[in-house]
Parts: sequence; structure tokens; C-alpha cells
Amino acid sequence: MRTPRTTATAVAHANIALVKYWGKRDAALNLPATGSLSITLAGLTTRTTVRLHDGPEDRVQLDGVPAAEPVRQRISRFLDLVRAEAGITARAEVVTANDFPTGAGLASSASGFAALALASSRAAGLALPPPALSALARRGSGSAARSVFGGFVEMHRGERPDGADAIAEPVAPPEALPLAVLVAITAEGPKGTSSTAGMERSAATAPYWDAWVASAPADLAAMRAAVRAGDLARVGELTEHSCFKMHGLMLATRPAILYWNEATVAVIHRVRALRAAGRAAWVTMDAGPQVKVIAAPVDGEAVAAALEAVPGVRRVIRTALGPGARLVEEP
Ligand code: PMV
Repeated sequence: MRTPRTTATAVAHANIALVKYWGKRDAALNLPATGSLSITLAGLTTRTTVRLHDGPEDRVQLDGVPAAEPVRQRISRFLDLVRAEAGITARAEVVTANDFPTGAGLASSASGFAALALASSRAAGLALPPPALSALARRGSGSAARSVFGGFVEMHRGERPDGADAIAEPVAPPEALPLAVLVAITAEGPKGTSSTAGMERSAATAPYWDAWVASAPADLAAMRAAVRAGDLARVGELTEHSCFKMHGLMLATRPAILYWNEATVAVIHRVRALRAAGRAAWVTMDAGPQVKVIAAPVDGEAVAAALEAVPGVRRVIRTALGPGARLVEEP
């Protein structure tokens, strides 16, 4: 399907995995070693415009300034995939901006590559159906495949060597289990170990690696059922289990991968105390020191205020579940 089009703008939101992905079964195609299940957020937004041009190279502007060369090259390699699929050679100008800190374990690569996949494929004249868009976004970043969809989303590990079945699909809409999502920012700098490098190291050295991969299908089945039943307490318990299992795996990697800082640990303890006092709130952390808390909407504001009072927490982003990637009108 082709329509003449040389520019397009898309927005996409970050997502947070409740059942985590850590490890690849194929590095070149970016195929995950485990499935994962995430929530797409209403906040934490990337907005990306792609414009084809006649110049000699791809240009990338990130958050208002020219992107660093490694970032520009990563985006250019991704655009090569889109050019190959569309049968074009034109270079592109990419203008992309996040309304949250980039590269600090807040899944900027998820919203970034979901928005880029949609804007660049559209600018190149392609109208990809959502599964194909998810497979394309995955090539940029594993978690980006999930940000194509809204609400609760499952990313399949897939079995095929070509990765055609390693795509995400919606599990339930946001209304299936309304959540308050609170992101406690404990540091604004970029993360120490990239997720790709960390995953490789865990697969190569962590003694629990096989158990991690083997236990994922049961976690996914349990989470799917809990989401569809609207069982918040079960979703919360499964969320913390998957998160701590992943970070245990990271700690058992050689050399150990430790993404947490003091405030991360303080927030974990605070949320456990809140729960003991009757609040419905559970933590999850990714490849960075921020703590994401899922809570019952009725408890959201009290939990957010408690997080703001934890020493070392710089600010708390309050959000909820939101929609998938979509095209928007250019300004
Ligand atoms: O999308 P990547 O390659 O940055 O990997 C993300 C991995 C985690 O955020 C730690 C877990 C997940 O499933 O999102």
C-alpha cells in the first residue's frame, strides 16, 4: 500500500513492563528471549516528525539540539530498514522531542522508536498495519514494539527465526483495570549500562539465566489472567515479582549490573510501608534508578505525596494508562 507522502508526524508514549523483558534470542533482529507484558502510559510522550529530503545524509534533532553521532547513526540504521521496505533512497530529517528525561531508564527508546516507526514509514509512503508496525518498531528497541498499542500490551517472544511472530498485541484496554501510575524520578542523568550490553552480559554470565527464561511463560499467563479479571492485588504482586526477579538476575551478572541508587531503595521501602498501612501500591524498576509505582486510582494522590517526601526523590510524574502510537497533524 502506498500513498505519495514525504512528511509525517507521530506521537507515542512510554510503556512500563509489568512482566519484564531482559535478554535477546537474536541480537541482529532484536528478538526477545522472553515475552513481556506492559502498560502504555498517557504521559511520557515522544513527538517525532520525519521529512524526506534530497540531501546526502540523515539529520536528527533530539530535544531541540542536533543528536550525538551515535544516536544519529542508530536512527539512520533504523531508517535504512524503512527505506528498504518502501523501495526508496531519500534521506530524512528527523525532529524528535521527549517531554521527560531521555535515556534514564524511562523507556525513551520505547516511545521514541514507536513514534519514529510510524512517522518514518508514513513519510516513506507506507501504511503499515499495527502488527507490521510493531515488528518494525522492535528493530529499533525491543520495548518499542509494545508502545505501538495502548492499554495492557503483550509482546510475544515468538519462535520463528525471522522474527515475524515477535510482535506485540493488545491484551486489554485501559478501562479493564484503571491504574494511577507514579514515576519517582531519583536521578536525571543518562544510565550507566545500556540495556543491550546488559542483556548480553546477563545471558553470558548470570547463573540464573536459564531459570529466568524458563519461568517467563507462567508469569505472562498469570498476568494476562489477572489483568483480564481486573484483580489489582494479583497484578501488583506479579509485577513486583517479575521486577525483583529481573534485578536479581542483573545482580547475579558478572560484573554485577546495579541500576538502583539510595533513593530507589528508599522508595521501595516507602511503598512497602504504604501497603502495610492499607494503600494499594506496588513498585517496578527498569534499566535505571527511577521507581514506577502502580496504584489504585483512589490511592494515587496519597501515594504520590508520600513518594515526594522520600529523601532523594526529585519529582514525581503522575500519569495513567493511555493510547498507542498515532499520526497527528503537523503544526
Ligand atoms: O527496549 P530495551 O532494549 O531498552 O529493553 C528494555 C528492558 C527493560 O526496560 C529493563 C524491561 C522491559 O521489558 O521494558
